[in-house]
Amino acid sequence: IFTAAEKASIASIWSKVAGHESAIGAEALERLFLSFPQSKTYFSHFDVSHGSKDLQSHGGKVLKAIGSAAQHLNDLDFALSSLSELHARKLRVDPGNFRLLSHAIQVTLAVHFPNQFTAEAQAAWDKFLSAVSSTLVSQYR
Ligand code: HEM
Repeated sequence: IFTAAEKASIASIWSKVAGHESAIGAEALERLFLSFPQSKTYFSHFDVSHGSKDLQSHGGKVLKAIGSAAQHLNDLDFALSSLSELHARKLRVDPGNFRLLSHAIQVTLAVHFPNQFTAEAQAAWDKFLSAVSSTLVSQYR
């Protein structure tokens, strides 16, 4: 349920991120952990210091999953089904954290791609990340 213009905004910013998933993802996680320290509790086994291997590696995984979702906008449920199982059943992440991570990702995109991150692009990414988040929490019950 994304308009052609929204799809274009999502794809245009994604084309800038592609190839830099670990760096962008690590920065988004660092912003999340610094801004909302309570979100770190899920990552007590991680080294969350600036630029750590854990941040790079996990940030890369998260951003690659988002990239894959960006390629399956019409079928997010299917594209994210195993991740959705993982977050709901195994990790039991409090759903409120998804909004915080989505925010940290948007700030990171804004800082790196100010020319592409227009008001339209921001609205499209906000909608996209909300859709990804709803899918990831859809199996909570
Ligand atoms: C694991 C994606 C939100 C906590 C993962 C993995 C991916 C991922 C791809 C790795 C799965 C694997 O190794 O098979 C995402 C996406 C998110 C999201 C796309 C939303 C846009 C969150 C949030 C939290 C969280 C908000 C908590 C604040 C975790 C934890 C793990 C994990 C604790 C396991 C880490 C480990 O021990 O390696 N997530 N995630 N995720 N996620 Fe998320």
